[in-house]
Amino acid sequence: MVVNGAAIEFKKVRKTYGNFVALESFSMNVAAGEFMTLLGPSGSGKTTALNSLAGFTDITSGDILIDGVSIARVPTEKRNIGMVFQNYSLFPHRNVLGNVAFPLEMRGVGRAEIRKRSLKALEIVRLGGLAERMPHELSGGQKQRVAFARAIVFEPRVLLMDEPLGALDLKLREAMQLEIKQYQQQIGCTVIYVTHDQGEALTLSDRLAVMDKGLIRQLGTPQDLYDRPNSRFVAEFIGLNNIIKISGSKHDGAIVDGLGVIRFPSEIQPSQGYLSVRPEHIRRTPTGGHPAIVRQAVFLGDAVRYVVETRNGAELTLAEPRSGENSSLDPGSEIAISFEENRLIHLPE
Ligand SMILES: Nc1ncnc2c1ncn2[C@@H]1O[C@H](COP(=O)(O)OP(=O)(O)O)[C@@H](O)[C@H]1O
Ligand SMILES: [Mg+2]
Repeated sequence: MVVNGAAIEFKKVRKTYGNFVALESFSMNVAAGEFMTLLGPSGSGKTTALNSLAGFTDITSGDILIDGVSIARVPTEKRNIGMVFQNYSLFPHRNVLGNVAFPLEMRGVGRAEIRKRSLKALEIVRLGGLAERMPHELSGGQKQRVAFARAIVFEPRVLLMDEPLGALDLKLREAMQLEIKQYQQQIGCTVIYVTHDQGEALTLSDRLAVMDKGLIRQLGTPQDLYDRPNSRFVAEFIGLNNIIKISGSKHDGAIVDGLGVIRFPSEIQPSQGYLSVRPEHIRRTPTGGHPAIVRQAVFLGDAVRYVVETRNGAELTLAEPRSGENSSLDPGSEIAISFEENRLIHLPE
């Protein structure tokens, strides 16, 4: 089962419910075969974006194109889009094979062909041996695999997944993330995946769009968004981050609250906005640096995370990989810290 994924284009899509704007000028291109994720807090418009592509929601204005053709007048069932939801929505009185076969029955495929293709889809999700089981006899992970098999059995060129792993516990969720990625690579379909879990988005995506209040705040590869967030919102949403206010500038750097003059890698030093620095880009330094006191030490196994306070009152989190048997610093310890200068980021807002 190999398909050519379709290219998707959202063009200034707007969706309102009365006075409420659920999507605002939502524009996004997804390349054929790409794995795109919409990441954002609850209520940011992720499901609305998926549903408007699938045809479950009418858009107020704008357009959506699949392979360059507007789907405005294409009925839902003709859009050839597979969907997976968080709650599986399996038919309780049909066995696994019957569930997976359903979309083919709807399309009037012949019986022998239905059986062959359904078993093939079950093989992809490694449930070949469970075709006769009933949904209540399956674990959460197995139910989600059945839902996935049902979504791909008619070989859609686009697969939409709306928080598909939300009901699973962390360990299973992480295992399923890798599986989903493998299935997609095997099948070749274009995926738009919705999650509010930033770790999941970083693991799965070719690119991701961070959403807030119906708007895309930033769109890029996981590395782009982690290394170069464009705003406080994105910097705080993805990974751990220290964000400190800038209150002015001098010729040799920005004036940062609690830290004094800090030199950014850019030529022009910012005079407002925020300094952003990841915990792994702050080091303890034997000489020089900013004097600080350890307030909290958190043992993480492979690293120790310290919350420190500088002499002028900036609170920072730094992460130090553990090497050898050395013990971690106790709260109250006096240290000095320095920044990896080329990793300092200026957030304008
Ligand atoms: N049928 C509806 N009527 C009114 N408001 C809605 C409706 N569906 C969604 N909304 C609102 O639109 C916003 C975006 O919803 P949604 O797309 O489901 O967000 P997300 O999936 O990111 O959690 C939410 O504030 C939600 O309350
Ligand atoms: Mg949602």
